[in-house]
Amino acid sequence: MKVLIIGSGGREHAIAMSVKRSKRVEKIYCAPGNAGIAQLAECVPIGAMEFDKQVAFAKEKEIDLVIVAPDDPLAGGLVDEMEKAGIRAFGPRKNAAVLEGSKAFSKDLMKKYQIPTAAYENFDDPEEAMKYLETAKLPVVLKADGLALGKGVLICKTREEAMEGVRKIMLDKQFGSAGNKMVIEEFMTGREVSVLSFVDGKTIKTMTSAQDHKRARDGDQGLNTGGMGTFSPSPFYTEEIDAFCQERIYQPTVDAMAKEGRKFQGVIFFGLMLTEDGPKVLEYNARFGDPEAQVVLPRMKNDIIDVMEACIDGTLDQIDLQFEDNAAVCVILASDGYPEKYEKGLEITGLERFDGKEDYYCFHAGTKEENGRFYTNGGRVLGITALGGDLKEARKNAYLATEWVEFDNKYMRHDIGNAIMEADKMS
Ligand code: AMP
Ligand code: GLY
Repeated sequence: MKVLIIGSGGREHAIAMSVKRSKRVEKIYCAPGNAGIAQLAECVPIGAMEFDKQVAFAKEKEIDLVIVAPDDPLAGGLVDEMEKAGIRAFGPRKNAAVLEGSKAFSKDLMKKYQIPTAAYENFDDPEEAMKYLETAKLPVVLKADGLALGKGVLICKTREEAMEGVRKIMLDKQFGSAGNKMVIEEFMTGREVSVLSFVDGKTIKTMTSAQDHKRARDGDQGLNTGGMGTFSPSPFYTEEIDAFCQERIYQPTVDAMAKEGRKFQGVIFFGLMLTEDGPKVLEYNARFGDPEAQVVLPRMKNDIIDVMEACIDGTLDQIDLQFEDNAAVCVILASDGYPEKYEKGLEITGLERFDGKEDYYCFHAGTKEENGRFYTNGGRVLGITALGGDLKEARKNAYLATEWVEFDNKYMRHDIGNAIMEADKMS
């Protein structure tokens, strides 16, 4: 089989690694890819939003399966375009990708189908939003409706902050057209868990759980980022919680989408908060998480191509989805200053130290290669994943491996997986 992966981050590198392991695949292309993916696949300089070029390329190379990994091309309808051209593609169609593409849509869906989530109101008029905030309970959460690289969420402790937030989102359009509408919702407290799942339109099979660390600095301080590190599984995601979510959240979401005429085929990522009143949905994503994929996929036993094809063919009920009984931790090596201002183009050394080491992965996110040397090329540069028999061991291994690579403005959080120790104390 020939496979084309769309995207260029650490998630796409993890997907490429899984695809490479498939016995059924003889050639992998990635558009546009990055310097790490280039070691597994042939990277082609076509951007994730250049649909015409991607379709032409897929036809020319007789691609058997296109995997659309990032949110933007999914929301823009790349899967529909591929299908129209007679090319098989993994990922939700445009009318289903709206589950992530519009927070107002997803909140209304949850309300209509009684899926547990934070109380909320949608607004398309900034004045009405301001008026609502005069009496809203604090803290309050503001969310730009559309896609904003995980940064369109503001948690406001005071009314002034909240009013300023409405201005930023709806008037100054800090997140562009994503802020034409917004959601104002109740602030929830609890532990966060990410549960990714494969969906074929009617059947849903969840993957092993993970936890992200969204804030830039240790102790969950600093700005929200795309994600600074993950671990899997989450020790807080118990069988009891899983049973509740399967019954009240996962299957109901898939059924609700089907009922709305928006059959979802692909990956649904459930961002959950384990509150005192039970698990509630923080957000849906219509794709693998980044850096969740970097800890979940290395633990998956199945051939990823078999699972993806079952999602497309509606035969997921016949797949026995299995994960290793081990653990993984991923620590992101970022450029100091991310997610705001940072320098790029600094040389990365030590990457060869990962060669031949089975339980260690160095997933590239923002890197580029020139004449055999590697350079930083983004905010999140590398994702260092290590496996271990348990979370503690995986964590120790991951932090050890972060020392193998160097670049000038290397920055990482030092407390990825600290929650593991808390879980230990609790048990
Ligand atoms: P989202 O992109 O919707 O997942 O939001 C990004 C982050 O903001 C989440 O991972 C949470 O840490 C936080 N967040 C979002 N919504 C809420 C909420 N209703 N209450 C508390 N924190 C929230
Ligand atoms: N790590 C969160 C996300 O991919 O949106």
